[in-house]
Amino acid sequence: MSIDEAKRLAGIAACNEVQSGMKVGLGTGSTVHHTIVELARRYHDEGLDIVGVPTSLATHALATELGLPLVELDDVEGLDLVIDGADEVDASFQLIKGGGAALLREKLVAQASGAMVVVADDRKMVETLGAFPLPIEITRFGHGTTVGAIMNVLGCKAELRMDGEAPLVTDNGNFIVDAHTGPHLTHPANSEAALLRLAGVVQVGLFIDMCDVVHLAGASGTERLVRSGGRLA
Ligand code: A5P
Repeated sequence: MSIDEAKRLAGIAACNEVQSGMKVGLGTGSTVHHTIVELARRYHDEGLDIVGVPTSLATHALATELGLPLVELDDVEGLDLVIDGADEVDASFQLIKGGGAALLREKLVAQASGAMVVVADDRKMVETLGAFPLPIEITRFGHGTTVGAIMNVLGCKAELRMDGEAPLVTDNGNFIVDAHTGPHLTHPANSEAALLRLAGVVQVGLFIDMCDVVHLAGASGTERLVRSGGRLA
């Protein structure tokens, strides 16, 4: 099975978590893209009555094009669940996210949701987080100072993410730093807390104790992995 097909299967499988009447956070990336397409199909063809809150301008544009009704996060008192992709998932369901530079809105929406469902292909499962460079959203002001401080805190190389010749600018007008820790983030909650103490750090792409279910696709099909003690257990 190709990676694209695995992403499609995982993305579609997660739609079974959604019921009529739900308010659903819509994640960002190539895997959850398939979820959003399928939710829109069910909305139009099967009367699945949902509203979505997008986690990025790209997802906002996709959902609008597909005719899914959207609301602002502040227009609802919480969401039933969010479905989103991930860059890495460890055995405790801790995540690295932000490969698509949407981590701040993704985390805001995830924290406002009653449960978090992740869609991924099985290359994303890791023993210890960190082989994927850790995305960190930082302010533009003093960004050079913040990159240096991040390197001190993590003890590794970190670099500003570029978009051609210029730094990439997020949907929130900030920059992204990718920190090359290597697969050594054995205490991700501690790393997150240490980074958040830096004034220039807006948010960190570590999602700790947030993910409840992973729809994982691999060569033998899709699996629904449930975090023991999680909100969907
Ligand atoms: C966006 O900022 C990320 O958190 C994505 O959710 C993550 O990069 C997964 O994307 P893919 O599904 O495209 O791999």
